[in-house]
Amino acid sequence: MPASIHVSEHPLVQHRIAVLRHKDTPCVHFRALVQEIAQFLFYEASRDFRLRTITVPTPLAEATGQMLAERIGLVPVLRAGLGMAQALLSAMPEATVWHLGLYRDHETLQPITYYNKIPQNPGLDVALVLDPMLATGGSAVAACNILKAAQVPRLKYIGLIAAPEGIAAMQAAHPDVPLYLGEIDSHLNEIGYIVPGLGDAGDRQFGT
Ligand code: PRP
Ligand code: URA
Repeated sequence: MPASIHVSEHPLVQHRIAVLRHKDTPCVHFRALVQEIAQFLFYEASRDFRLRTITVPTPLAEATGQMLAERIGLVPVLRAGLGMAQALLSAMPEATVWHLGLYRDHETLQPITYYNKIPQNPGLDVALVLDPMLATGGSAVAACNILKAAQVPRLKYIGLIAAPEGIAAMQAAHPDVPLYLGEIDSHLNEIGYIVPGLGDAGDRQFGT
């Protein structure tokens, strides 16, 4: 069964992605937009999180309430996923954060892992892989491979802009991982950049 693909049609997301893409959007504004868009996408991605019923004593009486019942891990793919993790942590401070350092080799476009401290059975019910750009899909596939090898039972991927090639790679390798995306672009260019895309998401966030 192929992964479900959720592309946001929300006007507030589309507006922000248009500004994000602009080549003259400055770093400080770019970072804020990444965080805002990530929060909107997270709202959709968290729709099926399990709840447990509790009783809350209000000043007047007892109310029935619902609390999150799942142990949720945020997995930002360094560097570019960092801003997304910060935004989601603000929305859900109970989440834990599991950094994963991957970079694409410029020649082969294959992901190289340079930081991974995720233990076996990290005690999560669901992990959210966070990376603004799904290009060839190599990094997303590698991140999901690592999390599955660590026995994380359920994965979701949140990305701002995806290429069809990256979606196809994820559907082939991880058909069980749903994708929550801001927009799907046209194609990859000859050096593996998303067109029209926004350029290098890490460089644009951190001014490098
Ligand atoms: C970018 C991006 C993804 C990856 C996507 O990271 O943040 O992690 O490329 O490309 P893929 O789908 O072809 O794997 P990059 O390798 O540039 O590292 P950086 O964030 O440290 O700049
Ligand atoms: N990584 C980026 O930051 N941008 C792309 O277009 C592709 C990979």
